[in-house]
Amino acid sequence: MVLSHIVAVSENFVIGKNNRLPWKMPEDARYFHKVTDGHIVIMGRKNYEANKGALKNRTNIVVTRSQTFRPDDAIVTSSIKEAIEKADSFLPEEVFIVGGGEIYRQTLDMVQRIYITIIQTTVEGDAFYPRIDPTSFHIHSKIFKKADNENPFDHTYYILEKHFH
Ligand SMILES: NC(=O)c1ccc[n+]([C@@H]2O[C@H](COP(=O)([O-])OP(=O)(O)OC[C@H]3O[C@@H](n4cnc5c(N)ncnc54)[C@H](OP(=O)(O)O)[C@@H]3O)[C@@H](O)[C@H]2O)c1
Repeated sequence: MVLSHIVAVSENFVIGKNNRLPWKMPEDARYFHKVTDGHIVIMGRKNYEANKGALKNRTNIVVTRSQTFRPDDAIVTSSIKEAIEKADSFLPEEVFIVGGGEIYRQTLDMVQRIYITIIQTTVEGDAFYPRIDPTSFHIHSKIFKKADNENPFDHTYYILEKHFH
């Protein structure tokens, strides 16, 4: 099983503000849905709330320390390890960790692949993506998109792959 992150991040590493995305970038939102469609996604409880429920057409695993948070549209686990083991039990080819900041930070060392969209702006926020060690990953692909009527910022889709030493 390949464990992946998928994230959109500003140039100053912001991913969220007030439990929302700090931008409207419909093209990146479509990319996210296309890449993760039909797969298993693992998310923190706050990201689940930000999404207003489970992501459609995906098996959703939500991580929480709460004993009472038990939505009926998602599998709930009480640790990240348990979430990954649960995902693995379905024998998937790839599992996507979809944030937010707390979950990305605790799993960066575990992922083999990172789908990262750099939104070419700096914004204020309260949720961040952790610093990636450039010696651990290499760029597998890179696609640049200019801002347009619908998408206010230039942005670049990278896929990073972990080096195996
Ligand atoms: N730009 C992007 O690509 C992107 C992607 C995803 C999310 N976001 C943004 O990120 C923000 C949310 O991120 P966040 O860091 O505030 O929250 P988060 O990572 O989504 O969720 C944090 C919650 O997850 C649970 N949790 C965390 N670590 C755990 C552990 N080790 N064991 C068990 N439960 C654990 C806790 O839930 P309980 O409090 O219930 O115990 C914690 O409060 C939002 O603004 C969202 O829009 C952005």
